[in-house]
Amino acid sequence: MNVISSADDLRHQVASWAQSKSKIAFVPTMGNLHEGHLSLVRAAHQYGDKVVVSIFVNPLQFGANEDLAGYPRTPDADKVLLQAEGVDVLFLPGEKEIYPDESDQQVLIEVPDLDDILEGKNRPGHFQGVATVVKRLLDLVNPDVAIFGKKDYQQLLVIRRLVADLGLQVRIEGLDTVREADGLAMSSRNKYLSPDERQLAPIIYQTLKESAALLVSGTETVAEIIGRGREILEKKGFTVDYLTVCRQNDLAPLATPMEPNEKALVILIAARLGTTRLIDNLELNLV
Ligand code: PAF
Repeated sequence: MNVISSADDLRHQVASWAQSKSKIAFVPTMGNLHEGHLSLVRAAHQYGDKVVVSIFVNPLQFGANEDLAGYPRTPDADKVLLQAEGVDVLFLPGEKEIYPDESDQQVLIEVPDLDDILEGKNRPGHFQGVATVVKRLLDLVNPDVAIFGKKDYQQLLVIRRLVADLGLQVRIEGLDTVREADGLAMSSRNKYLSPDERQLAPIIYQTLKESAALLVSGTETVAEIIGRGREILEKKGFTVDYLTVCRQNDLAPLATPMEPNEKALVILIAARLGTTRLIDNLELNLV
């Protein structure tokens, strides 16, 4: 595995692959890798002849009250994992490679409608930071395919919209969330859960599944299903930021009672357990 930290070196590598008509599959990450990331890397080999993974903890997507300095950074362990997955290039840039005028980054990419709802409402500026860094990374890596997890569902939609509106020549693949045996979605944040909180955390996924089953059965309104889910979570000690049923393609909340023509739905939850904020979602395709 070639570890590259300069944007120029990366461009040279990518140009030489282009000459040999190699397809590039790209997995952007912020490091501290777990099975969820590695499943994306494994899938990347199916989409490209060459696999590039980036690790960059992007300051632009952290809010003023979010702990950028405390974000877990484990580059040595990450390198070992990526080497074992047969990654061709690990792009490990410093801040200046991504934001050349680092103290004065002015240009931000906005994806109105999508970037200030749900996660965006709770984390103002977050998706502008994500969209801006992803555009920059796509420009540098110039991949044929870029791969993201569906756990960050709203992020995936923001990126799809960015690519569509700017006419970027890259295919975006969204892959299913990888879960622990008890259903908890894998996340770098899970390690902040106390043993007691870790026991409770799978209730988020259980609530998603129960809500989905109720939607399918059609016995309750969306408002009732949401109310029931919130109650279960709150009784167990979660603070629920949102539990909502939306249209998959634009995250428009479903009207109550349910519109019969809405078939491709996603249920999304963000909830805090102690100081740890967890998000998860479940797609539901009604027939
Ligand atoms: O999902 C992440 O790890 C980050 O938001 C991403 C897409 C790498 C951008 O910094």
